[in-house]
Amino acid sequence: MKDKLIIANHKMNLNADDLNKYLDKISKINNKNVIICPTSIYIPYFINKTQVGIQNVYCYSKGSYTGEISPMQAKSLGVNYVIVGHSERRCYFEESDILINKKIVESLNNNLKVILCIGETLEQKNMLKTDQVLKRQIINSLNNINSIDNIIIAYEPVWAIGTGIVPDTSSISSTISYIRTIIDKLFPNNSVKILYGGSVTEKNIVELNKIKEVNGFLVGGASLNPDEFLKIVEVVAGQ
Ligand code: PGA
Repeated sequence: MKDKLIIANHKMNLNADDLNKYLDKISKINNKNVIICPTSIYIPYFINKTQVGIQNVYCYSKGSYTGEISPMQAKSLGVNYVIVGHSERRCYFEESDILINKKIVESLNNNLKVILCIGETLEQKNMLKTDQVLKRQIINSLNNINSIDNIIIAYEPVWAIGTGIVPDTSSISSTISYIRTIIDKLFPNNSVKILYGGSVTEKNIVELNKIKEVNGFLVGGASLNPDEFLKIVEVVAGQ
């Protein structure tokens, strides 16, 4: 597929001093398919320099929700994408499929493109429950959503995130094909992009980029070093 997406997820990393150097290097990219998701307070540094995503939003437009950020507020600043359902949100902040669904609805209503993360834990994988878990996550998260046009799916096995362990390419391709089958049943004739995430680095990107079912990558740790991230972009986007 042309137009593969490359999404950087900084999580709660980097600080104000790091950003000038980072931006200096990253602003050379000039590719609308490269999306940076900085820690929220640093988003203004990136606006108008790259495509920007927010790592999390709340499920309402405004109100007394101390510490939260709404999709409407993010959009009004120039953010175009939002990550929803990341396993760290599901695990550390106990986000349920129901909350994830509400966040998706509110984000779509505010014209944000949603990057919906799904993935099985090691325990679920060992119990041979991967397909069941992915199916549940997809069906529940997309409940009452009429169109998948503004949604991107990121398949991120939880056991591959930040561990340096990557599934073999044949299992990535078969799992992503399975995800596509589920999505096709829910949304016939879609052209949804399905990305892979979990320990993507400059060392494994050449191999991972050969998997034809994969329409792009969500990159955590390796996106913190601008030189490494640029190499990943170069392999995927030929830039
Ligand atoms: P990682 O993180 O690349 O550091 O494994 C990926 C992610 O959590 O999106």
